[in-house]
Amino acid sequence: METTFTYMADGVLTVDLTGNIIHANPVAKNILSLESTDEKFNDVIVNLKDSISIEHIKSKGYHGTDLAEKNGETYNIDYAPFMNNKNEIGGVIVVFKNITEQHRIDKLQKEFVANVSHELKTPITTIKSYSETLLDGALEEKETAEEFLNVINSESDRMTRLVTDLLRLSKMDYEQTNWNKERINLQDMVNMIIKKLQIQINEKNINIHLNIPDDINIMFDRDGFEQILLNIAGNAVNYTLEKGNVWISAKKDNKNVVVSIKDDGQGIPKEDQDRIFERFYRVEKARARGLGGTGLGLSIAKEIAEAHNCSITVNSRIDKGTEMIITIPE
Ligand SMILES: Nc1ncnc2c1ncn2[C@@H]1O[C@H](COP(=O)(O)OP(=O)(O)OP(=O)(O)O)[C@@H](O)[C@H]1O
Ligand SMILES: [Mg+2]
Repeated sequence: METTFTYMADGVLTVDLTGNIIHANPVAKNILSLESTDEKFNDVIVNLKDSISIEHIKSKGYHGTDLAEKNGETYNIDYAPFMNNKNEIGGVIVVFKNITEQHRIDKLQKEFVANVSHELKTPITTIKSYSETLLDGALEEKETAEEFLNVINSESDRMTRLVTDLLRLSKMDYEQTNWNKERINLQDMVNMIIKKLQIQINEKNINIHLNIPDDINIMFDRDGFEQILLNIAGNAVNYTLEKGNVWISAKKDNKNVVVSIKDDGQGIPKEDQDRIFERFYRVEKARARGLGGTGLGLSIAKEIAEAHNCSITVNSRIDKGTEMIITIPE
């Protein structure tokens, strides 16, 4: 029993009905900063949560559960009575479980749902109000009607993109994506991506500089790699001013292929650089200028990369530009 208590991951403490500590395992001692079991329960539990005392536990019929936070960790506190040899309540067993990670995931999930709802609500509101105006008579004026229908059309496109991105992420979450690794010639792939971005490139007069040796091949899922490049190169074009530059280059380095996508655009503030790979994260400045989409592009790119043991890192300086580096092992 002693060994079990000593090595278990949860903190366990037993206390008698007058509040004397009978036993505390090392984890419980650590959580409560308890030096010896001579201390009174009420005097040490305040280190974790001041609303719990032996009197409080008694008022709950010796059964209960509670949450507490200490030094950035979250603990679940469970208590239950134990019987003595006369079959009366002899005291209480208190169990402390560190649920920090679970708590963090719960919070992320809630934020995710809030973000999705918000992102869907905006286009729906627009579609609703424009179609209402059309029904109220705007349909009669051909020019206005066409303008409104264009807005409805592009807002539906935005919703479609969002839902496609979400489905992709959800499939990856459930590990339902079948990656089909095949040999891909990097130069061919980059040329194809440039074609797909050509409209935006032309609209903004972006200069593209390519430096990709024709003998570099990688083993990767074709759609997956296309998505990574499209999301990263798309950002480079999107977050760069008119007549800006985008450089795409690749080299072999040891056993890796290293692809660099660099721009001389607005850059990303230092404090945001770690967070841009999170779902829905967008730098405030880009948002304020009305640039960008939903903030899912990089999180998708990163998850695909990780599923292929690849990494994506960022170097960026505000107003100087951004470089994204994809490292692909051979
Ligand atoms: N090359 C870049 N230069 C400057 N900022 C960038 C660059 N790439 C990404 N960012 C910043 O990182 C944020 C997250 O990028 P991400 O691609 O994930 O989302 P997004 O472009 O806003 O939307 P979408 O889901 O449509 O791609 C962007 O909103 C932008 O603020
Ligand atoms: Mg993007």
